[in-house]
Amino acid sequence: MTDPQDPARRLGPVVRLAPAKVNLTLAVLGLRPDGYHDLHSIMVPLDLADWLSVSILSPGATDTLHVNGFDPGPVADNLVLRSIEAARRHARPEWGRAEPPPALAARLEKRIPVAAGLAGGSSDAAAAADAALEAWGVELDPEARHRLAAELGSDVPFFLAGGPALVEGRGDRLAPLGWLRAATGSPDRDAPATRDAPATRDAPALLLVTPAVAISTPAVFRAWDAGARASGGAARMASAHLAEELRRGIRAADLMARASVLAAANDLAPAANAVEPALVPFKRALLRLLGRPVGLSGSGPTFWALYASHAEAAVAADRVRDAIGAGELIGPGPRPPFVAAARILARTTEPANLGREP
Ligand code: C5P
Repeated sequence: MTDPQDPARRLGPVVRLAPAKVNLTLAVLGLRPDGYHDLHSIMVPLDLADWLSVSILSPGATDTLHVNGFDPGPVADNLVLRSIEAARRHARPEWGRAEPPPALAARLEKRIPVAAGLAGGSSDAAAAADAALEAWGVELDPEARHRLAAELGSDVPFFLAGGPALVEGRGDRLAPLGWLRAATGSPDRDAPATRDAPATRDAPALLLVTPAVAISTPAVFRAWDAGARASGGAARMASAHLAEELRRGIRAADLMARASVLAAANDLAPAANAVEPALVPFKRALLRLLGRPVGLSGSGPTFWALYASHAEAAVAADRVRDAIGAGELIGPGPRPPFVAAARILARTTEPANLGREP
């Protein structure tokens, strides 16, 4: 190895955090000719994150993946390996050598529950593609990165936004949104919380409760197709309204005031209940325990509740854990539910809209 540009000379692994997401709203607009569904959803990334690293292997090796933490199923089916392979394909023109970019050893620490409606696998895929490209020293332009992400799965492009976003189409059209604005001072759009009131201060945070039942997203969409759906378009209206407010920046108190509308704004909830009927009594018990609105993320089974601060969400998490420990709250599935307090990550830079008409 005498080429100083050779990526194999890189010291140490490339490391990425792969955040979970929650859908604050999820409107399903209809079935598309390609079998997917058109969505209108406000998604936010969380500080609950998987940890991923990739290192370059010697010539002749093949990609490997080692996983710790939550079990994501067979390694060969893991999106991380598919993502590295897809990134290698997309990197070829830029790479410009006869041989393909070298094999990678990936390590994944899974802290996000699997098949939970938190898009952990999709986030891992986004992080793996990004880490692989950096390991090879290849830069793709934003459109090429977006094409690569969309190819990997409907939830993957969202993780390119780096913060709250409106997600439309099958998940491939995304518009980055603002987040909180300062409660005091001039109520103008130049005071988003990303600059004036970082998420570490008293910004609204989420309690997450994930019963130990894996829910298949395709099965939930099939149940929606079969008629397990709410009528009236309330989720769509709530989603459009929140998108508009977030574009300008919303005050924390106003977001908190929307909690019950947002908690009800998931068109997949009836379908998730049809696929896993045990969600219905579990949500009822959670509502009784928390005494506040409880929403479902994506196709479930993760429930969320909005709190005015991370400290309050952490107190609620303790209360839920205590209730589970005391046998007062019993989740469906072979293990107790996963419980966590999570901060919502707001972006610090403004990426361009992706996959949208200008
Ligand atoms: O794109 P991805 O493979 O993550 O999607 C998983 C499944 O979820 C799809 O096969 C499809 O059944 C369903 N889906 C959908 N409409 C979307 C996103 C996902 O029907 N917008």
